[in-house]
Amino acid sequence: MSISSLPAPGAVLVESSSIRERVAELAAVLDAHYAAAQQPLLLLCVLNGSLMFTADLARALTIPLEVACIAVRSYGDSTHSSGTVELVADLAPSVTGRDVLVVEDIVDSGRTVHFLRAHLAAQGAASVRVVALLDKTARRAVAVDVEWTGFDIPDSFVVGYGLDYDGRWRNLAAVHVLDGV
Ligand code: IMP
Ligand code: MG
Repeated sequence: MSISSLPAPGAVLVESSSIRERVAELAAVLDAHYAAAQQPLLLLCVLNGSLMFTADLARALTIPLEVACIAVRSYGDSTHSSGTVELVADLAPSVTGRDVLVVEDIVDSGRTVHFLRAHLAAQGAASVRVVALLDKTARRAVAVDVEWTGFDIPDSFVVGYGLDYDGRWRNLAAVHVLDGV
């Protein structure tokens, strides 16, 4: 296979300026939603894809909060879900009695969100809500609630702003369609 036929980022689907504006809007909504909470919100970054979104969202929020990480795997190196979700590392403090906001880069089949909701509920979280930057509703295989979404996007594989293909392209500032897959 020649280098030129490898998948590579193509057209920009969501500009970095649009991401910035939407993150600010979501933060305002979330600030208002959790304003009366009795304890700091636990912002749970789903590694690795949500690194950028969590970092920007956390800085845009003004409510008291803690940031923690959880690592799950569902994709391997391809663009197709394996159908199972594995917990790779749970780096969060106890979620028992906590208000947890799961920060996802993208909801695709819905399996990751489904898995995380069950996992956090089983540990006795007081509330579990989900904010996802991107949502590919056309690909949903499992019905899941996503309380807040940044952008609904069509069914194409995307990279950038935390999202990868085989480990690459997370550092792009915008969200691009991946060409050549
Ligand atoms: P789900 O469990 O099928 O909903 O997939 C969720 C996870 O798959 C996301 O958190 C991403 O890490 C990954 N994923 C799904 N679609 C894409 C994509 O278009 N680009 C990069 N990663 C994706
Ligand atoms: Mg992810």
